This record gives sequence, C-alpha cells and structure tokens, in this order.
Amino acid sequence: MPTPVFLDCDPGHDDAFALWLAAGNPDLKLLGITTVGGNGRLSQTTFNARVVATVAGIHGVPIAAGADKPLTRVLTTAPHIHGGSALDGPALPEPQVEVDPRGAVGLLRELITASAEPVTILATGPLTNIALLARVHPEVLGNVADIVWMGGSTGRGNVTPYAEFNSWVDPEAVAVVLDSAPPFTMVGLNVTHQALATTEVLDRLAEVGNATSVFGVELLRFYTASYQAAQGMAAPPLHDPVAVALVARPELVDTVHTRLDVEVHGTETAGATSVELCGQPSRPANARVAVQLDVAGFWDEVEAAIRVLR
Ligand code: BDR
Ligand code: CA
Repeated sequence: MPTPVFLDCDPGHDDAFALWLAAGNPDLKLLGITTVGGNGRLSQTTFNARVVATVAGIHGVPIAAGADKPLTRVLTTAPHIHGGSALDGPALPEPQVEVDPRGAVGLLRELITASAEPVTILATGPLTNIALLARVHPEVLGNVADIVWMGGSTGRGNVTPYAEFNSWVDPEAVAVVLDSAPPFTMVGLNVTHQALATTEVLDRLAEVGNATSVFGVELLRFYTASYQAAQGMAAPPLHDPVAVALVARPELVDTVHTRLDVEVHGTETAGATSVELCGQPSRPANARVAVQLDVAGFWDEVEAAIRVLR
C-alpha cells in the first residue's frame, strides 16, 4: 500500500523536483498540494505549483493556496536563488490545473481527516501553513503519521551564518509546530548538501527525454548558475526532494531521534535550529533528524519518478 502524503511547498526549483518525486514514486500516494509564500510571493508559488503539475501531466491532485506571509514577520523571498518568478529558467506554460477554493488549511484538514491511513505531511517551505493548521485544527494532527520538513541544519545556515532559509523566513511557525508535538522529522542542510545536482546528474536526467525532464534540466541549469553566483558552489544542492525520498525509501536517509528546537529571539541567530547530537539529549527527544543520505540511491529515485511522468 503506498504511503499517503500531502505536499506543502513554495516552488522554487527544488520544490518542483519534490512535487514530481511525490507524484511519480509508486510507494507514495500524493493526496494534495498546498502553497506558501517563501521562495516567491504566494501568488507566484501557487502559479508555479500549477505549472510544475501541468508540465508533468499531474491532474486530479488538488492545489490550494495558503499563507501569504509568515506568522509575525515580513516575508522575505529568494530571487537570488530562484529568480524573479521563483521558477526562472524555462518558459512557464499556462497552467492547466485550477486553484482549489478550500484554501491550504481547509484542504489539509479535509483530506487528512478523510484519509483511512495516517497521512505524512511533506513540508518543503516555511512552516506557516502547518503552524496555522496546528493552531486552528489541532485535532487533525491525530491523523498525521509524520511531518517531514526540509529546513534547518545541524550546522551552519545558508541565509545567515546560523539559519537555513525555510526556518529563517518563519521561525515562529517552526516553534508552533514543535510545541504542538506531532511526530516530526527535520531534513536539514547537513544532509541536503549531499544531494548535489552535478553535470553528471543533469546528463542522466536529460537522457530521460520526456517533457518533465526537459523542463527539469532547464530549471537545474538556472539553479546551478544561481548557486555558483550566490554561494560559490559548483553544483547546487537539490534540497526539497530529499525529504520526499526519506518517506518513499526510508533506508536512503539515516536519522537520529533527538532534541530539536528553534531560535526565535536571537538578533543574529533567529531561525537557527538547535539539534542535540552529543550522546544522550539533555531534554526529551522530540524529533527525528536526518544525518546521512545514500546519494546514488537518491538520484535513482528522482530519475525513476521523472521517467513515469509525462
Ligand atoms: C530551502 O530554501 C528554498 O530556497 C529551497 O526551496 C529549500 O526549500 C533550502 O534552504
Ligand atoms: Ca522549498
């Protein structure tokens, strides 16, 4: 039986691959997609999610828009990585998928409540929508198997010295979600920086040759240039699909069960994730934290998913 999953995202180049992996992997059943302001404004990330689904021929998976700004902060987007559209590179076709009128919290609530099996939430952007769900409908978390979030880091950040982008955009949302104590898994930069989209990766994805692969490789070419200019990295880390891979094939990602917290007050450290990795945690463990990726196995899953899409 495939694992029922729900994707909350802010496409975003790597979110696009997360969406395709969630839709194309035979061990996952993608119930719905919600969008949040993050890499771009909400109108952009919602448009982009519809584009990404359209390109891959994904129909029948509802897409609803969520929060247009963080819980308490002003939204900061990432044009230096994802361009002015948040999905720069290829020409973006007119989406053939409508926006679901239920809204993100409404859609999450309805589909998770209706699922016969507990649902895993894959969150690949700021956690604002999930925090709102936890605040407004906490009972829904009773049918959530896990919240697997690409965000945070066990080491340094990528937007400030200590904070990863998704965490930094809305640290209060991370705190609200952790306070509501659902099963929670953090897939941070310490692991996603192992998923580098090298030229060899681009070549093998290009060989697939379908519409998704052509569009995806154009995305990766733009994304590669961004990372080279912004962070001096020769190959860009494809963060978000690592969180999806962990659910599709758990043996690909090693995790530890430990204590995870987020800094919300620091002037220099807001959004920093604090992960206890030295032996026995001093406070009760509250999360799984990813620590190691099977890189070859990861790319096999990404390629296989793209092959089954359009
Ligand atoms: C995260 O930030 C975004 O730019 C990416 O889509 C990813 O979710 C990496 O820090
Ligand atoms: Ca993202």
